Amino acid sequence: MLKVITFFNVKGGVGKTTLTVNTAAKLAHVHPGKSKVLILDLDAQAGATNYIFGAEQQEYYEKEERTLYNLLLETFSGSQPNIDDYAVKAFNWSGKLYVVPGSYSILEAEKAALTSTGLWLLKLREIVHRAVDFGYNYIFIDPPATFGVLTKMALAASQYFVIPVIPDQLGLGAFKLLDKGFRTFIVDLRTVLSIDELPVCGGVVFNRLKSKTHYIIADKIAEEARRHKLYGRYPIPVYKTRLDDTVDYTKCLEKHEPIFTCKGINKKTKEQFESYFKEFYAYVVEDGARKVKK
Ligand SMILES: Nc1ncnc2c1ncn2[C@@H]1O[C@H](COP(=O)(O)OP(=O)(O)OP(=O)(O)O)[C@@H](O)[C@H]1O
Ligand SMILES: [Mg+2]
Repeated sequence: MLKVITFFNVKGGVGKTTLTVNTAAKLAHVHPGKSKVLILDLDAQAGATNYIFGAEQQEYYEKEERTLYNLLLETFSGSQPNIDDYAVKAFNWSGKLYVVPGSYSILEAEKAALTSTGLWLLKLREIVHRAVDFGYNYIFIDPPATFGVLTKMALAASQYFVIPVIPDQLGLGAFKLLDKGFRTFIVDLRTVLSIDELPVCGGVVFNRLKSKTHYIIADKIAEEARRHKLYGRYPIPVYKTRLDDTVDYTKCLEKHEPIFTCKGINKKTKEQFESYFKEFYAYVVEDGARKVKK
């Protein structure tokens, strides 16, 4: 069993990395059995790697050529690299959480992808499918805030994409843009994948709310999401839990700790995260988002 999840939005700074890292860590924490959780850091800012390990460690992996960039290059050249040569255990966080570190060079992988043998769109999909042989059952991909080659490869590899949105005017615009660009992309994807292999929306999660206006716009976006059916089939779930804007997230980031174990932060922040995670679990881990109401 393999489940691949990408937190996706064309807008930057909405919480993709924060939610990727914390959700993956929480899942590694609560999920029974031996299944390992892997984060693939696909962003040139290497935010997920920096969050978990710190900048010094990230530079070390970069020097050691133990990054997702190197793993991708090897795959593009036609070989089948050993994922465990690249995955690093996040031992301070969980015995079951691993990361393939991000690299500042990863944008160069976009060019390399286009000249590689075989379909570039499916290269990350090849990698994640092989990850099952290494005991990884949940893979989170942290993409850049663009809708380029890397993000498209991530979506083509995913069963679910979750959309974090800051519900401001810009957030509303980004949501619409995402919808339009996304449709064109799906047409391309349909030429290589069957309908059952297409990624399903694991939900829209509102993040960084700090004013009444944010709540009003969140309601508007939720209403818009309710009017859509993905592939004319799946509803777009909107999470009831909304995550407030709080310095607690920066505090945990600076301490390189997950939000749910980090000390000295507000009880409310932790409660909101737990409540968000329950919804994530129901929609994505238990496949609630795929259950179509007749
Ligand atoms: N609920 C929140 N409250 C306050 N700060 C938050 C919250 N969620 C995330 N942040 C902070 O916002 C910043 C941007 O978040 P993050 O890096 O997760 O976004 P991103 O979508 O991955 O950005 P990028 O597109 O640049 O990769 C970070 O400094 C993070 O700590
Ligand atoms: Mg990010």
